[in-house]
Amino acid sequence: MLDAIESLPRQREAFRADVLTGLSQPQKTIPCRWFYDRRGSELFEEITGLDEYYPTRTETAILRRHAGDMAALCGDGVVLLEYGAGAGIKFEILVDALRAPRMYVPIDIAADFLDQTVARIRQRFPLLVTRPIVADFTTGFDMPADIPAGRRAAFFPGSTIGNLDRAEAAALLRRMCGHVGRQGKAIIGVDLRKDIRTLIAAYDDGDGVTAAFNLNLLARVNRELEGNFAVECFAHEARWNERESAIEMHLVSRKRQVVSVAGRSFAFAEGETIHTESSRKYDIRGFTEVARHAGWCVVAVWSDPADRFAVFGLDRET
Ligand code: AVI
Repeated sequence: MLDAIESLPRQREAFRADVLTGLSQPQKTIPCRWFYDRRGSELFEEITGLDEYYPTRTETAILRRHAGDMAALCGDGVVLLEYGAGAGIKFEILVDALRAPRMYVPIDIAADFLDQTVARIRQRFPLLVTRPIVADFTTGFDMPADIPAGRRAAFFPGSTIGNLDRAEAAALLRRMCGHVGRQGKAIIGVDLRKDIRTLIAAYDDGDGVTAAFNLNLLARVNRELEGNFAVECFAHEARWNERESAIEMHLVSRKRQVVSVAGRSFAFAEGETIHTESSRKYDIRGFTEVARHAGWCVVAVWSDPADRFAVFGLDRET
C-alpha cells in the first residue's frame, strides 16, 4: 500500500508534535487518535465485544435491522467512503443491502490494520472495488483523483463522531459535504446520553481491557518516541463531564515522577492526569442541530428500542 509507506514518517512526526505539545499544557493531554497502533486497534476490537460496552452491539443491531433503508438512502452504484474504517465490520453488515455499489473506500490512520481489513474485504467481496486511503480524517485530506465522482455516501459508524468536540464534529461533517458532493448522503452512528452508571461501566470494564487500551498509549510513546513512561506508575480512570456531556478517559499518575519523551522532560504530581479521550453523548435534537449547521438535513433516525444509540441518515438535498 503505497499510501501507507509514504505517510508513515509524517504520521510519526505528527504523533511526536501532538505528544510534546499535549504534555506541555496545564491539563496534560494526548489526542485519542493515537490510541490506534496495531496493539491499540486489537484492544479496541476486544472492547467492542465486552458486556459493558453496549455501543457496538446496539449499533450493529440497528444496522442489521435497517440496512435496507440505509441502502435506499445511498442509492444505486454508490461510492461508499467509510471514515475510520477499522476492521470494516460495520461495512460488511451494510454491503449486502447496497445496490450495485461502485466502490468501497475505507479511510483509516492505522496503516497496517487497514491493510489487513482491505485484504479480508477483497477476499470476501472479490467483485467489489476496494480502494483504501491512509489518512487522518480528523484533520482533512485530499480525495485521490481516481475515486469516481457521481453518487457518493459518507459512512461513519461507531460513534467516533463523539470523540470530536462540537466544532471538530461540525468541521468533519462539513468536510464530508465536500467529499460527497451536492447530491451526497451520509450515515452517521451517534451514541446517546443515558444514565451515568451505564456510561462509566462502558469505559471502565471489569476485565480491565479499556484500562489496557488507555495505558497502551504510554507504551506507544515509549516505543515510537523514545519515551520512558513506567506504565505501571499510571492508572486508568473514566469520569463523566456533565458540562461537555462526555465520558472522559484519563491516565492518573500514581506518584510524583519525571518522564522523558523525545529528549524532553515532563514532571507529574501525584494524582495529576493526562486527558486521553472525550466521548460525547448527544441527544437527537443536539446532533440534528450540529448536522444542520454543517450543511446536512436529517432525513432518518434509526435507533434501538431503549434509545441507547442512533444512526442518522443525512442528505445534502431537501
Ligand atoms: C472509537 N470510539 C467511538 C470509542 C468510544 O466509545 O468513544 C473509543 C473507546 N474508548 C474507550 N472505549 C472505547
